[in-house]
Amino acid sequence: MVREVVELLGDRKVVVDMTLGGGGHAEALLQAGVEKVVGVDRDPVAIELASERLARFGDRFSPVRASFSEAPLPPSPDGVLYDLGLSSIQLEDADRGFSYRLSGPLDMRMSREGESAMDVVNRASEEDLLRLLRGFGEERHARRIAQAIVRARTPRPIESTDELARVVTGAVGRRRGHPHPARRTFQALRIAVNRELEELATSLPRAAGILAPGGRVVVITYHSLEDRIAKRFLLEEPSLRVLTKKVRRPTEAEVKRNPRARAAKLRAAEKVPA
Ligand SMILES: C[S@@+](CC[C@H](N)C(=O)[O-])C[C@H]1O[C@@H](n2cnc3c(N)ncnc32)[C@H](O)[C@@H]1O
Repeated sequence: MVREVVELLGDRKVVVDMTLGGGGHAEALLQAGVEKVVGVDRDPVAIELASERLARFGDRFSPVRASFSEAPLPPSPDGVLYDLGLSSIQLEDADRGFSYRLSGPLDMRMSREGESAMDVVNRASEEDLLRLLRGFGEERHARRIAQAIVRARTPRPIESTDELARVVTGAVGRRRGHPHPARRTFQALRIAVNRELEELATSLPRAAGILAPGGRVVVITYHSLEDRIAKRFLLEEPSLRVLTKKVRRPTEAEVKRNPRARAAKLRAAEKVPA
């Protein structure tokens, strides 16, 4: 949703892009005339690739490798952007273990540090797996899947994406024309491993706190759990005024170009002068 992002933030002086990824939004903002973009990402690969892409902007671009809940931020930016979730670079790299369509190690760590999905799948109790699948995957078949994981990991740990996808498919079956049965399990694990909801819930108030009066925050979400957090925060934070009375969705053409954009929802708010 680059057009909307540029419409909302393209006239700013200093923008913090909390989810730099491949640097597409940062590049569009710099091209639109934003004086300075600080690009945060916890993925070292994203920082490296985006820094190469944006090198021509010199010191108008500064990369920060950190989680956005704790990244050092410039004082009083007049724009903050979140484009949550995964980049296609992460999703399409089999070695990162994010995709049930690609065979790879069960990793899923955006930062490449800490507990991986393999650790969670092989160590969590059945009850914890059940809670995780229900809470972060909104998975109807959570009980069956949790039981199947615990059974499957007993002789030998589950180590790869395709092993896990097979266990889930074996537990709930696969129906033609329906999304892959492991989709919600993978979503749940990814959210848990990367503490995605805590990250967002901690970072939004921080962003609202440092925004200059008249500054804008723009949030693009890809699933209902993070969208609920963003929607609520933007509505309830007294220092903000919502700009998107109706949530913005990608156009058909955008979805055609990038099918993963289908679920995207963009919300924006402006800091009211004190
Ligand atoms: C959808 S991509 C962003 C794509 C980017 N807007 C572009 O135009 O290329 C999301 C990025 O945010 C990063 N990310 C997600 N959660 C994060 C967090 N809590 N802290 C820092 N980076 C995060 C991911 O590593 C990923 O690179």
